[in-house]
Amino acid sequence: MLVDCVTLQLPKIHDPRGNLTFVEGGRQIPFDIRRVYYLYDVPGGSERGGHAHLNLHQFVIAMSGSFDIVLDDGFDRKRYHLNRSYEGLYIPPMTWRELDNFSSGSVCMVLASEVYDEGDYLRNYSDFMLQVHTRFRAQHHHTP
Ligand code: TYD
Repeated sequence: MLVDCVTLQLPKIHDPRGNLTFVEGGRQIPFDIRRVYYLYDVPGGSERGGHAHLNLHQFVIAMSGSFDIVLDDGFDRKRYHLNRSYEGLYIPPMTWRELDNFSSGSVCMVLASEVYDEGDYLRNYSDFMLQVHTRFRAQHHHTP
């Protein structure tokens, strides 16, 4: 649900020699990290994402520059702007995401709870909506 999609502040060790931020799986973020990937050299006007995951938890950080992430849980949709190296956006499973508005030179780092698995993707928005509403009905309308 969108209510679970929170922007989390990471520890920031201020230092005149340069600041330092760290992330530990299960501590600053609510899952263990099994994969790290990043987007870079993103051309202006580019759009990424456009999918959801069945089981994957992710945490997205704008390591450099800025970009927007639109999140959609099948009921509500919200746009987030990321532009700090010491904060990130937690994206739970079953959340449709679209990334756009990349500034030039921006780097988007993603920490993920599982290694890459194409079978975990929902790449079609109507398939995503069908899954969301099927799950919702299963949870809220128990037939005897
Ligand atoms: P995709 O997740 O669709 O990119 P984005 O959501 O950022 O637009 O991945 C793009 C391609 O990269 C796709 O062919 C799968 C591949 N890929 C991997 O092989 N490993 C990974 O960890 C990721 C994230 C993608």
